[in-house]
Amino acid sequence: MNTTPSATDAAWLEAHWMPFTANRQFKAAPRLLTGAAGAYYTDAEGRKVFDGLSGLWCTGLGHARREIVEAVSRQMATLDYAPAFQFGHPLSFELANRIVERMPAGLDHVMFAGGSGSDAVDTSLKIARAYWRVQGQAGKTRLIGRLQAYHGVNFGGISVGGLVANRKPYGQGIEAAHLAGMQPPAGSFFRGEPPDHGVQLAESLLTLIGLYDASTIAAVIVEPFSGSGGVIIPPRGYLQRLRQICSEHGILLIFDEVITGFGRCGAWTGAEAFGVAPDLLVFAKQSTNGVQPLSGVVVRKEIYDTFMAAGGQEYLLELPHGYTYSAHPVACAAGIATLDLIAREHVLARVQELAPRLEEAVHGLRGARHVADIRNYGLAAGITLASAPGEPARRPFEVAMAMFRKGFYVRYGGPTIQLAPPFISTAAEIGRLVDALGETLNHTD
Ligand SMILES: Cc1ncc(COP(=O)(O)O)c(C=O)c1O
Repeated sequence: MNTTPSATDAAWLEAHWMPFTANRQFKAAPRLLTGAAGAYYTDAEGRKVFDGLSGLWCTGLGHARREIVEAVSRQMATLDYAPAFQFGHPLSFELANRIVERMPAGLDHVMFAGGSGSDAVDTSLKIARAYWRVQGQAGKTRLIGRLQAYHGVNFGGISVGGLVANRKPYGQGIEAAHLAGMQPPAGSFFRGEPPDHGVQLAESLLTLIGLYDASTIAAVIVEPFSGSGGVIIPPRGYLQRLRQICSEHGILLIFDEVITGFGRCGAWTGAEAFGVAPDLLVFAKQSTNGVQPLSGVVVRKEIYDTFMAAGGQEYLLELPHGYTYSAHPVACAAGIATLDLIAREHVLARVQELAPRLEEAVHGLRGARHVADIRNYGLAAGITLASAPGEPARRPFEVAMAMFRKGFYVRYGGPTIQLAPPFISTAAEIGRLVDALGETLNHTD
């Protein structure tokens, strides 16, 4: 169905208030995508556009994968919806088992959320608070995030999040504090994990414990590496030291793996890639290859068992929480097909093979105009640009728009350009993406 004849009709574009979008600019110069296959979009003018961010970090296997399309279509015709509360359907149990197989040892129960990463983050924060409360420690409510972190857009997520632009308009959040950020100084140009200061940086948690006392702290939440904040990689030893401090002080550790989960790190999880296991692990995006909204939280057995033991009469709820679309059957079908494909196509090995190619290519941009720093991990890279005087958001925006005109979709956020090519990319495609970026930077004022 061609839904684009009015694409240039400003009135037709008005009704949709677009998310995280400069609406006035977009509606003056719309960028409409009308199709996708493999690693490419087709836009309304019929141009092919390389998907340099795998959608929004979620379509690593490429678009229109037959196995996922068929699984979804079949499920829609079989059981299109089942009530999420007090009734079940087999696919959620099947998918939960498949997910648990891929998690660090001990994380073995899945609470599905409404489909977005934001829902899943807030679900994890609620579980953490409730966990202490059912054990009689109702004072453990403070949640600790980190500067520059992105944990979605719900009130819990923006409170623990560390991006001021996403917090400023909304007033009072929930009780949170923040660890020091991990962003290395401009000009560091670290490849992969930064070498030093991991332990020292993690010990900013000790300062917060000293200030608030562990008896008031429910959990620490971090992204194993930070994606939307600009691809910020933890220095060596950082996550290990955070794990140690949390264990010693009776604080739950949550990994927000909405970007790092299911392949981006060349491992099933960031936890596996960095060798550190959290107590709760949040997933979304890549779990269905972006085809259906599916998200959730995987928790340790002790956490699940604690709620079951404290649940009272068997007919009573152990946790009053859930969404109409928790473990939606069609999303579960997409999830099962996606996990199958990741395993069958040896995607993790492919990401490991491509990661050094991306690293090599992207660090070749050192010296290109405006480039202040470059960071990378797995199939993700962030390029920080020096800001135009008085207009910090302008240059990344202009670069991303110029890239789109050249046939490459990339994301810009804060002062960074972010790349996350599909797992199915070829080294040559990654090379072309980065070359186009270099050329664009050199032609940007
Ligand atoms: C680490 C992290 N957490 C949470 C979210 C929020 O996910 P969603 O946009 O699906 O709500 C994102 C989205 O980019 C993310 O990167």
